[in-house]
Amino acid sequence: MTFPAPQHAIADIGVTGMGVMGSNLARNLARNGYKVAVHNRSPERTERMIADHGGEGEFFPSTSVEDFVNSLVKPRVAIIMVAAGTPTDAVIEQLAAQMEEGDIIVDCGNAQYEDTRRREASLRERGLHFVGAGVSGGEEGALLGPSIMPGGTVESYDRLGPMFETIAAKKDGKPCCTHVGPDGAGHFVKMVHNGIEYADMQLIAEAYDLMRQILNMSAPEIGEVFAEWNKGDLESYLIEITAEVLRHHDPKTGQPFVDIVLDQAAQKGTGAWTVQTAAALGVPTTGIAEATFARSLSGSVPQRKAAQGVLPGHGGVVEIADRDAVIEDIRLALYSSKMVAYSQGFELIRAASAEYDWNIDLGAMARIWREGCIIRARFLDRITEAYDRNPQLPLLIADEFFVAEIAKSVAAWRRIISAAVSAGIPIPAFSSSLAYYDGVRAPRLSASLIQAQRDFFGAHTYRRVDMPGTFHTNWSEDRDEEQWD
Ligand code: 6PG
Repeated sequence: MTFPAPQHAIADIGVTGMGVMGSNLARNLARNGYKVAVHNRSPERTERMIADHGGEGEFFPSTSVEDFVNSLVKPRVAIIMVAAGTPTDAVIEQLAAQMEEGDIIVDCGNAQYEDTRRREASLRERGLHFVGAGVSGGEEGALLGPSIMPGGTVESYDRLGPMFETIAAKKDGKPCCTHVGPDGAGHFVKMVHNGIEYADMQLIAEAYDLMRQILNMSAPEIGEVFAEWNKGDLESYLIEITAEVLRHHDPKTGQPFVDIVLDQAAQKGTGAWTVQTAAALGVPTTGIAEATFARSLSGSVPQRKAAQGVLPGHGGVVEIADRDAVIEDIRLALYSSKMVAYSQGFELIRAASAEYDWNIDLGAMARIWREGCIIRARFLDRITEAYDRNPQLPLLIADEFFVAEIAKSVAAWRRIISAAVSAGIPIPAFSSSLAYYDGVRAPRLSASLIQAQRDFFGAHTYRRVDMPGTFHTNWSEDRDEEQWD
């Protein structure tokens, strides 16, 4: 099958890559009145999309990249929705070869922000704009209204922004899309969104496991608890779908669905990217790291087999006086840990923004995550308000709202973590969040000893609490102290 070559440039925007996400973005644009050029490496997919959904708006299908580019009105805007890495580079090259100065290539997939920075710099030299745009909300979001996080130049946003704002999810009438910042800023923010998504999912899973193991509750009973929680402070898409999943029964066996799913969580890499980046920038995103490694542990099959029934637990039995009180403790522990995870994610965005001069508005990021995306939650309003109160806020959980909320939950948080540790139930995200909380608020940390050790074995020097300067002690000689600068 070949589509006829376009007679003239007619489409407002184009999408190449007719997988589910690409087709749904194209359909969303067309449903909103835009003329949309569509293309896929194998034209059968384009044909299928047109056959199934061609009536939803004005589509202009092309067989070749050349026809696809020629069907776009100048300055051209072409969205790429293909696999990250080499396939994206290949498509960019094909498009760039046909494009002219001022045209815009938009990568709407999940990409490493460093790749985006590299691509942006190289296309800028050729007079083209390259926009790395994070798109969240899964298949349904892409079709009905995602949260969109575009980076790139202001000029590219002037052309692209109105279209993206039209198709994005809306909250209080405002689009869940804004210009995030230059070059890789959009993909960076999307990466952190996914890192927070990992932490949030792990925290929810730990809350579920605690109810299961400490309270012996069934999956549907726990589903009811999540449904109840979704009416309060924890209201969010992830809590809502958790309630649905836990109340669902497997049609084949009649068992709770969650019980027939293998307990090995997969990952496509955005959590790991977040952890690597956080480590490189020196930002302690411990909740995201634990969530990522918890997935890795679940998939460490030979290691789990070697340990099961071999490594002793010596876990005690937790005495339950009041089931509802324990459920409330778990809710508060989840809420506090979640505040820490978001706070860490926002610190990571702040650090990258300073490192790359992106000037990212943190409050605006919380605002565009309120609808459409996977981590959408009532709680995000509180984050926006905190940054409205103080755009320079050095630590999100130090904002007055979060201080007051954590004050109400910290005792419960400690109780539930102690109970889980005593019973031998793994809760890495809960406990690392509390450890971070206690670390960041501690007046003095054991890091002084680390510095002393570093000076001992490597003359790495230290600073003193009582005078300025850098010092070294001659550990192997007379232990005299020298001031180095
Ligand atoms: C989104 C999702 C999306 C994707 C995740 C899944 O925002 O719409 O985050 O990007 O579903 O990347 O990631 P894992 O496969 O790594 O869980």
